[in-house]
Amino acid sequence: MNHFNWDYSFLVDFDLNNGFSKTAETTKRYLSQMKDMFYDVEAAEEILKTEDPLIYEFYELGFPEREGDLAFGTTILYPGLVGEEYYMTKGHFHTKLETAEVYYTLSGEGYMVMENPEGDTIEIPLVKGQALYVPRRYAHRSVNTGNEPLVMFFTFDADAGHDYGTIETKGYHKMVVERQGKAEIVPNPKW
Ligand SMILES: [Fe+2]
Repeated sequence: MNHFNWDYSFLVDFDLNNGFSKTAETTKRYLSQMKDMFYDVEAAEEILKTEDPLIYEFYELGFPEREGDLAFGTTILYPGLVGEEYYMTKGHFHTKLETAEVYYTLSGEGYMVMENPEGDTIEIPLVKGQALYVPRRYAHRSVNTGNEPLVMFFTFDADAGHDYGTIETKGYHKMVVERQGKAEIVPNPKW
């Protein structure tokens, strides 16, 4: 367990090539923990017969959920497919819906898939060297459409909270799939 003094100042290491940190704690998400989030659950179960691949991991500091603090860290989303759907993060709304977030792409390529409670959707490419703004009220999920890890640095209000809810079971209105070797954004048939 790391201890930081949130009322003073501190330094923490993040490798801006691979996203790893020697200090921050890592949380790993394996396919077995999110197989129902992929559209093709049968394809997920087929993979799980022989292996349980690591889909993504993130490094964070165990921030107190206090108003005024900023949470930050890195996400490393590995390349791969479940059926025709690219590896992706679970994604979430913020419990405090009116809370934005910034993602900076350190390496790799993909999409940020966003949608608000009214069902409006936004998909923006994640490009190395560019910061992406996730607006207030939008759930957000990143998708890796490349062949190497998609590495991002993020920051948001520490008390924003994470709300998986409906979106965890039904998924987003849009999904990103590989067809004829190319990434395509298509409607999710579950909606
Ligand atoms: Fe978030």
